[in-house]
Formats: sequence, C-alpha cells, structure tokens
Amino acid sequence: MGLWDRIKSTRLYKSIYRNDYPDTPRNQVLVILNSMVLHLHPVKIPKKQVRYTFTFGLGGTSLLMFLILTLTGVWLMFYYVPSIPGAWFSMKALQTDVYFGQFARNLHRWAAHGMVIAVLLHMTRVFYTGSYKPPREFNWAMGVVLLLLTFLLSFTGYLLPWDQLAYWAITVGSNMAKATPFIGAQVQLMLLGGYEIGQATLIRWYTLHVIFLPLAAMLLMGMHFWRVRKDGGISTPIPYDEDEAEFPPQPEAAAD
Ligand code: HEM
Repeated sequence: MGLWDRIKSTRLYKSIYRNDYPDTPRNQVLVILNSMVLHLHPVKIPKKQVRYTFTFGLGGTSLLMFLILTLTGVWLMFYYVPSIPGAWFSMKALQTDVYFGQFARNLHRWAAHGMVIAVLLHMTRVFYTGSYKPPREFNWAMGVVLLLLTFLLSFTGYLLPWDQLAYWAITVGSNMAKATPFIGAQVQLMLLGGYEIGQATLIRWYTLHVIFLPLAAMLLMGMHFWRVRKDGGISTPIPYDEDEAEFPPQPEAAAD
C-alpha cells in the first residue's frame, strides 16, 4: 500500500473527507453536495447561464466590493476612535503613523464607490434582460432594499472622518430628511440624536455603519443568492440555440 493510500485509510482522513476522489460523475456530484462551501453552487447548470456577456458578473462584483469593504473596514476599526476629539485625529494618525494606513483607507473608499457603481449597473442589467419578471419579482424587490442599504452604508460612512466635508454633508442630508411631510422634524431628531450634529450623531451613525447596516446587507444578500438558486438559477429569458447564435432571435415572419 502506497503512502497516499495509507493516508486515505486513516480515520482522521475519513472523518474529514467522506467521498472518493472526484474522478467519476457520481463522485463529482457527491463532493459538491457534501462540501459546505461548494454546495452553495448548483451541481450542474446550463452553459448559457454563465455566459459572461449576459450578467457581466456585476452581481458578483457587487459582492466582491462588499467583501473588500468588510475586510478593510474591520482593519480601520482597529484605529478609528468614534468620538469628537478622537475621530479626525485618529484618521490623520492612521494615514501618517500606520503602515499601509493610507492604502487601507483609500481601498475602503474606492471599494465603496465601486460597490455603488456595480450595484447600479447590475440593476440596469437585470432590467434590460427582463430578469425582474416572474418568478423573480421578489428578488427584484429584495434588490431594491439592497440598493437602499448600499446608499445608506456610503452615507453613514461619510460622517465618520469628522472633517468639514463630512459635517456639512450630514447637515444637508439631515435637513433634506427634515423636509419629509408631517414627520420631518422627528426623522431629523432621530438621525442626529439631538437638535444639532454632535457626539450622539457620530455614535449613532458609527453603529449603523459598522454593525446594523452591514448585518442587514449580509442577511439580505444571503436571501438574494438563495432566491437566485430557487428561481431556477440565473435567468435565460430568450431561448436561443448556441450553435446558431442569433441574439436576439428574429421573430418568425408572420403569415398573411
Ligand atoms: C448588494 C447588492 C447586490 C448584490 C451583491 C447582488 C448580487 C447578485 C448576484 C451575484 C446575482 C446572480 C447573477 C448576476 O451576477 O448578475 C444576482 C441576481 C439578481 N439580482 Fe442582484 N445583487 C445586488 C443588488 C440587486 C439590485 C439593486 C437589484 C434590483 C433592484 C437586484 C436584482 C436581481 C435579480 C432580479 C437577479 C436575478 C437575475 C437573473 O436571474 O438574471 N440585485 N444578484
């Protein structure tokens, strides 16, 4: 018995890997189904569902941006102090005293811009391919909430450096909220945590930015991806023959 066969016959190996090597179609299916990570993907899908020019990978790019934002955001949290005396100086110190501090901060900001652009383009793609139609209406609705969360994440992050730009942007934003009919004053009070921008505003927006909104986005993204699977995978609304690729297919000439 060779070394590899011996390793495979140990209890430790068998406790981790339950299947044989994926060299037959059956074992390939079993490996996918029994793996926590791989089972997130379907075992088989029609080839045209993964045609790059149908989705341009825009939903995946939105997710990638979110992951970069989460990683760099956790990194920034090690240095950022959410208090009026601490916020601006901690960001300044991050850029000058911390290795790769400026880089991490810029990565976080650029990924935020990237996510807004990717999500908007993804939504445009879904619209132009008609992929919001049944049975995908609910996923479209969830997408709208994800779009809102993406905007809110960007906006709440904007206050945190506590510089002039941030301060006045929040002044404008919260005054816009105040213009809401009937409940405007209450909405502004809730957003600011008082009658003017101060420590209460900063800690509110910080908590929204680093805990509440990312958790809500993660939960919804999980549901969004699950729905893509349950709605039959990525849509292929216009049936067409790959060999005679004629896109979009021309309607049959109507008989007179
Ligand atoms: C955080 C934001 C979002 C993420 C991470 C995300 C991710 C994804 C991914 C990975 C897919 C699979 C197909 C693809 O990559 O295009 C998808 C499909 C879909 N998304 Fe999103 N999405 C987001 C926002 C939105 C928005 C704003 C809308 C619309 C308002 C939307 C509506 C849909 C629909 C209807 C599908 C099914 C499309 C099809 O089957 O062709 N999503 N999404």
